[in-house]
Amino acid sequence: MTGLERIPTVMVPDHDDLIALVADRIATVIDSTLAESGRCVLGLATGSTPLGIYRELIRRHVAGALDFSKVITFNLDEYYPMPAESPHSYRRYMWENLFAHVNVKPENVHIPDGTTPREGVRAACQSYEAAIHAAGGIDLQILGIGKTGHIGFNEPGSARGSRTRLVTLDTVTRRDAAADFFGEDNVPREAITMGVGTILAAREIALIATGEHKAAIVRRAVEGDVSQDVAATFLQDHSGATVYLDAAAAADLTRIATPWLLEPVEWNPEMSERAVVWLAGQTGKAILKLSAKDYAENHLSPLLAQHGSPGAINGEVFNRLRDKIRGRARLPKDRRVLVFSPHPDDDVISMGGMLGKLKENGNTIVVAYMTSGNIAVFDDDVRRYLDFVDRAAEPLGIAHTTLDAGRLEAQRSLDRKRPGDVDIPLVQELKKVIRECEAISALESFGLGADTGRFLNLPFYRTGQVRKLPIGPEDVRIVSALLDEVRPDIVFVAGDLSDPHGTHRMCKQAIERALADRPDPAPEAWYYRGAWQEWSITEADALVPLSYEELRRKITAIFRHESQKDTAPFPGPHDEREFWQRVEARNLETAAIADQLGLAEYYAMEAYVVRRTSGDG
Ligand code: F6R
Repeated sequence: MTGLERIPTVMVPDHDDLIALVADRIATVIDSTLAESGRCVLGLATGSTPLGIYRELIRRHVAGALDFSKVITFNLDEYYPMPAESPHSYRRYMWENLFAHVNVKPENVHIPDGTTPREGVRAACQSYEAAIHAAGGIDLQILGIGKTGHIGFNEPGSARGSRTRLVTLDTVTRRDAAADFFGEDNVPREAITMGVGTILAAREIALIATGEHKAAIVRRAVEGDVSQDVAATFLQDHSGATVYLDAAAAADLTRIATPWLLEPVEWNPEMSERAVVWLAGQTGKAILKLSAKDYAENHLSPLLAQHGSPGAINGEVFNRLRDKIRGRARLPKDRRVLVFSPHPDDDVISMGGMLGKLKENGNTIVVAYMTSGNIAVFDDDVRRYLDFVDRAAEPLGIAHTTLDAGRLEAQRSLDRKRPGDVDIPLVQELKKVIRECEAISALESFGLGADTGRFLNLPFYRTGQVRKLPIGPEDVRIVSALLDEVRPDIVFVAGDLSDPHGTHRMCKQAIERALADRPDPAPEAWYYRGAWQEWSITEADALVPLSYEELRRKITAIFRHESQKDTAPFPGPHDEREFWQRVEARNLETAAIADQLGLAEYYAMEAYVVRRTSGDG
C-alpha cells in the first residue's frame, strides 16, 4: 500500500493493460481453485467496466486456454422489475457478453431474477444467499464502482452486514444509467443486489475502475474513512481486496495528483510546474509572488532547495507556462489539417476557436465526422423533418408518390416505438442525415465550404444502440483511406480519457491504429478534450486565447447543432447545462486561471495537448 491508500491499489497505464491484468488474475484463480477443490465460484458484475475483461476471457476460452465447465457464477445484481429478454436486463447482458461464448453450464449460472413477483422477492433473496453458501462461497468477486461509491447496487446507507435484498436506486445512479435507457424516467427505481456482507464474504475481491469520471469516487473509496455513505470503503477491512485502476481513474489519488506530499519526487520540469501551479492554487497567489515561506509551509522545501531561491523556480515555471500561450501568429499556417470529430459537434464544441483561426491562417482543412451520432437525435426532430419534406415536396416539384412510402414507414415506426427500442434502419439513416446537415451548417458559419466535411460513419458505431462494437479492421481501413487522401501535416484528435459512452476513446483508438500502420512520418497530433472536460493548464501544451467575438462565433457554430440544443439526449450525468454553456464556462475558466497565476489576462482560452508523433498521446 502506498501513502494514504488504505487498500492495495494496482495502477496500470491504460484500459487494455487493465483488461490483461484482471483477466490474468481471474484465469489464475480459476486454475488454482479448480486444482484445489474441483470447482471455482466467481462473483460477476455488469456495467461498462468489465466488458473488455469478458471479451478477453472469451478470447482465452476460444484459444483453448480457459475452461468454464466447472465454474459456478453468481451475479451481483439485477434491476427490478426487469423482464429477462429486455435489452436492459443483466441476464441478457451476461449471456450476450460472456456466457453464450464460453462453456459454462447454464445450471451453474445464477443471476437475481428481475421477474420474481414482489411478494416472493424476500424468499428469492434468501435462496440466492443459500445457493452461494451451498456452492462453497465466492472465490473471486469482480466489482465495478458507481458514482455514489456503490458496489453491486449497495447505495449510500447500505450496512456492512447487509445481504441480498431489494433496494431503491439512488438518483445519481439512475441519472448515470439514463443514457442506456433513453431517459431517466425509463430507468427502474429498484434493483435486487447482493448485500455488502455478501460481497465481503468472498475470499478475494477485485474492484475495477476505468476512466476519469471515476477518479473522485475512487479516491474516496481508497483514501477516505470507512463509512456507510460509500459502500466501497467497506472493502478496506477485507484482507483479500484489491483495487485495479487505469491511469485516468487513479488520477485523483494523492500519489498521482500531489506525490510530493507523500515522498521525495524527481523534480523534472513537468513535476516542478505541477507543484508550483498547485502551490499558487493553495495560497491564492500569482506564481511570481510565491515566497520561500509559501514553499516551506506547503511541503515544497525540497523543490525550493533545488533552485536556491523562489525567484528562480517561480521564473522558470512562469516562462514555461507563458510559452504555452499561442495566439494566431504562433498557430499553423498554410498547412494541411485533418480534424477528427468523433460526433458531428465535437469539432465546434471543443475546438471551434481553433477552427476559426486555422481558417484565417490559410490552412487547408478537412473535418472528418467519425460517427453519425444518430442515436442522439430525438424522434420529434425526425417527425418535424418528415413534415418539412411533405410540405416542401410541392414547391420543390417532388411527386408525393415518390416520397410517401418512406415518409409513412418512418412515421409509423415512430408511432409504434417504445422507449429504448432500436430505430428501424430508415429512421437511423434520417437521424444521421439530420446531424450531417447540422455539421455542414456549423462549418459554413466559419466560412468553410460544405466539402470541408467528410462523414466516415464508422461501422463500430452502427449498432443503433448506446452500446458499441469494438474497433475493427474496417474502421481502421476507413480512417487510413482518408489519411492517404488528405496526407495531413497536422491532425486534431479528441483526446478524452473517457467520455460517457467511450465513443471518443474508441475513435482515438481507430486513428492511432491507422497512423501506426503508415510508413510515412506521423503528422503532428493536437489533442483536444471532448465535450465534457478541459485539459488543465499543466496538462496542456498549447493555450489558445480567444477574444469575446471569437467565443461568440464558436457558440454560434454550436447553435447550428439544433438537435443537440435545449435538451440533448446524452448530456452526460451531473450537468444540466447545454453544451454551449459548458464551453463558455470552460473557456472563460481556463483564461481566468491563467490570469490568477499571473500570466496575461485573456477573455477566453482553449487548451490542447500537442504530440509530434501520434503514438505518445
Ligand atoms: C453492476 C453493478 C454496479 C456497477 C457500477 C459501475 O453489476 O453492480 O455496481 O459495477 O455501477 O458501472 P459501470 O461499470 O457501468 O461504470
